[in-house]
Order: sequence, then structure tokens, then C-alpha cells
Amino acid sequence: MKDDFTIFAGRANVALATSVAVEMGARLGACSVERFPDGELSVRLDEPVRGRKVFIIQPTSPPVNDHLIELLAFVDACRRASAAHITAVMPYFGYARADKRHGRREPITASMVADLTQAVGVNHVVTIDLHAPQIEGFFHIPVDSLTAAPVMVEALRPGLSAETVVISPDAGRVRMATEYARLLGAPVAVLHKERASGVETRVTRLVGDVRDRPCLIIDDMISTGGTIVESVEALLEAGARPEISVAATHGILLAGAREKLTRHETREILVTDTVAPPAHDWPHLRVVSIAPLIASALRRFLADGPLSGYIVS
Ligand code: R5P
Repeated sequence: MKDDFTIFAGRANVALATSVAVEMGARLGACSVERFPDGELSVRLDEPVRGRKVFIIQPTSPPVNDHLIELLAFVDACRRASAAHITAVMPYFGYARADKRHGRREPITASMVADLTQAVGVNHVVTIDLHAPQIEGFFHIPVDSLTAAPVMVEALRPGLSAETVVISPDAGRVRMATEYARLLGAPVAVLHKERASGVETRVTRLVGDVRDRPCLIIDDMISTGGTIVESVEALLEAGARPEISVAATHGILLAGAREKLTRHETREILVTDTVAPPAHDWPHLRVVSIAPLIASALRRFLADGPLSGYIVS
């Protein structure tokens, strides 16, 4: 691999960026980020990037707007410093749930984020388990949404009973749950969820059989924890064995999520480190690193290699 690339870490998940750099046998590019008293950000690259391929690793996790602006500022700095090619590695893509209008006079914020990243000069976006695959269509540049499924399944497999049913907590996650079920050789059941607001959801129906079976709920993210709690309750009500595990790619885990989730009989919650994980004193939470997956995909980009096996087709 030619040494003509530089990896910069935004502040959203320096640990992940460091692990990716280590996996690639590289070091992080020198830079400094400062916040002025009025809240404005100042980003400076402390080494040249002229003619280099640049990877900026920054999940746009909470505080979403700050992390997004920081990413855009990094990109702008790289473009003005004559980087040859800029890849925004956004392991978690904030605003992905705002991918359509639910009524008139509403924005499609995911599309706006796509416009902003392209306007500042991003040439390529890499993300993981994008909430809705059609978001790719908001971009006119290549977007690669890698799947964490193989990494998650390898971490889950040893602890799962052969009778486990994989659960999609809503219609949007059926494709993802089906992929997990395929890799695990398990059946799938689907819950039908209605969202009343950003914090309120209601499970109205279950399609599939979970009676006396352990369940594995799959989701792309856990934010407030509401979806998981509702799903666990619906599964127990439908006669599932009180042996429920959860696997979600993005553990956003906002304040209050832990309290909500520990009230229930979940055996284990598995997330990746796309979003910086919370403090390590949560016995039911297990974090599996996505750094080897990102590093290996970036190596393929550098070698112009194919991405089969990294994305769900
Ligand atoms: C919804 O469409 C998503 O896939 C997640 O199920 C949801 O956003 C998780 O959020 P929360 O934890 O707040 O229910």
C-alpha cells in the first residue's frame, strides 16, 4: 500500500480513528481543534496534505450539529490545502432518520447534510449501516455503506441458543434482520412499530412465531432505548422466553437509555464503537470494535479493490 494517505480524527470518536490508523499501520494526521468562547470552532491541519488522499473519521453523533460542522471544517481545510481526494468516514450518519417528509413544510435534513458535505468538497463517503439505503441517492458522489453484520454475528454466535428468533423491531429493519438471520441460520419475526413522536413509539403487531423461543432484536441504533423497551415488552407478551438479546450497530445511548434498558430482562446489548461508547460500568453492554472493518475497507479503496463482503447487496 502506497503511503500517500493521511487519516485525520475529528473529536467525535478519537479512539475509533486511532484504532483504524493502527490497523492500517499509520498514525493520525496532526491537527488541532479549538472552541472559541462564543462557541465557534477552529480547525487547523498541522501537516501538509497537498496531493494526498485524506480520510477524515468523524461520526456525526450527538452533539450532532457540532460534530457535523467540525467535519465540514476539516474537509474545507483539506480542500483548501490541495488534498487530492477527500473521504468523509462517517461511521454514524447523523440526521439519517430525517430521510423523508412526514408532512408539508418539513425539511429532508439527511438530504441537506448530503448537500453540505458535497458543497465543501467531499469526494467519497463511507458509513456503516446507514439507516435507510436510499440516502445514498441524496449524493452525487460515491457512498459506501458498510455492514457491521458479519462482525456482530461473530461476536453473538457463541452465546446464542440454536432456537433463537431474529427480530426486526419495525418494517425498516427487515432487510438487516434478514441478513443477520441468514448468517445465523435462524428464523425472522417482525414487529410493527408506530412512532407517535421522537420519544414515543408503540408496537401494534407481531408477524412470526416467538412462543417459548429466545429472541435477538436487531436495530441500526439505540437512541433513547424506547424502541427496544417496547419490543421486549411485545415479545414477552407474545410468549417469548425471557432470554432476549439486542444487537444494534450504533449505541447512541442517550441519557436515560441505560435506566430504561436495565429495567428489562435483556441478557445482553451488543453495539459497535461507531459512536464513542459510554463509561464501562454497564455489565449488560458489550462493545465490539468496527475499526478492523473500516481499516480493511479503506485499504481496498487505496488499492482500487472491490467491496464485496463489506456491503449488503
Ligand atoms: C428507527 O427507525 C430506528 O431504526 C431505531 O429503531 C430508533 O431510531 C431507535 O431510537 P430509540 O432508541 O429512541 O427508540
